[in-house]
Amino acid sequence: MAEVYTEPTPSAFGANPTDPGTPLPLSADDRSALDGLAAAFSRDAYAPGASSAAAGRVAQGAGASAAASHGVHAAAPRPAGSPILSVRSIEKVFGSRDSVTHALAGVSFDVAAGEFVGIMGPSGSGKTTLLNCVSTIDTVTSGHIIVGGRDITGMSRRQLAKFRRDDLGFIFQDSNLLDTLTGFENISLALTIKGEPARSIPGKVNAMAARLGVDGVLSKYPYQMSGGQKQRVAAARAMVCDPKLILADEPTGALDSRAATVMLEIMEMMNTQMGATIMMVTHDAFAASYTNRVLFIKDGAVFNELRRGDESRDAFFARIMEVVSFLGGEAGHVS
Ligand SMILES: Nc1ncnc2c1ncn2[C@@H]1O[C@H](COP(=O)(O)OP(=O)(O)OP(=O)(O)O)[C@@H](O)[C@H]1O
Ligand SMILES: [Mg+2]
Repeated sequence: MAEVYTEPTPSAFGANPTDPGTPLPLSADDRSALDGLAAAFSRDAYAPGASSAAAGRVAQGAGASAAASHGVHAAAPRPAGSPILSVRSIEKVFGSRDSVTHALAGVSFDVAAGEFVGIMGPSGSGKTTLLNCVSTIDTVTSGHIIVGGRDITGMSRRQLAKFRRDDLGFIFQDSNLLDTLTGFENISLALTIKGEPARSIPGKVNAMAARLGVDGVLSKYPYQMSGGQKQRVAAARAMVCDPKLILADEPTGALDSRAATVMLEIMEMMNTQMGATIMMVTHDAFAASYTNRVLFIKDGAVFNELRRGDESRDAFFARIMEVVSFLGGEAGHVS
């Protein structure tokens, strides 16, 4: 039986994101993450001291959209044509002098609106570096990344903070839910930070949770949820703000096969029925078989690309496995 959560006050911040409201029992970790959230995603400020890790956690919590009044049942149709994401000849060099690593050595590709793209490649091939550059957690050494027609490589810190908040959603391997907030509060926090009117938050959270099958756990804390439920709450948190692009880093990496399948079916539904554009890094050929297209990265460059077309998922899986085998993987894992 689905439980509908009806708490009138939706988040730790109350109706106004700048109003602390009634304090919740936050751990020191949660407090520091929330401090980062408030600073990095406020409309007028950016916290230069925020660490990359905090920024990652922050960004995940607050992937958001400027479309304040959209419905949560279906993303607004986006014009076909220009890509949502355009990666142009990006290079990323780590280190200096004696120890230089070309983690990305000229990567170019586009992701069109409504695509679900998988990124695969051997360990050390540059997948996480690529995701970090697109998510603005890291900066490129050269090249351009254009999201929704805007070049993010030339943005100021303030613009980047707004970009992360308004245009991106994140789902990581570890759901990164705030431990002392309920499922409802974790999802609503992203909307609160974006400045969503408090009265419209419960409806949006409940509707999104129902679509993703986590309406029964909204009053639970993360420690009371299964791994799969946590990931689906994290997906609801990413989706509820209708971001232009959802970035997922091994979203099923910590799940058993049954929970992973449920999560992948949910992501497929987010893509096909809710219009989400998703880029997912994965080691797992089974996970990749749920996407429309897989880009294989090797030594910091795009090595191959497979498109699913009208193929069945099983047939696509078989073709992905051929490339994985060629790259030296085993049992569906590239690394
Ligand atoms: N901060 C860093 N400093 C120096 N080198 C780095 C740094 N981050 C990544 N690298 C190097 O860049 C290369 C690409 O790393 P990256 O983490 O992107 O690989 P990956 O494809 O995500 O691998 P895995 O599948 O193991 O997660 C590797 O050689 C790695 O050692
Ligand atoms: Mg990685």
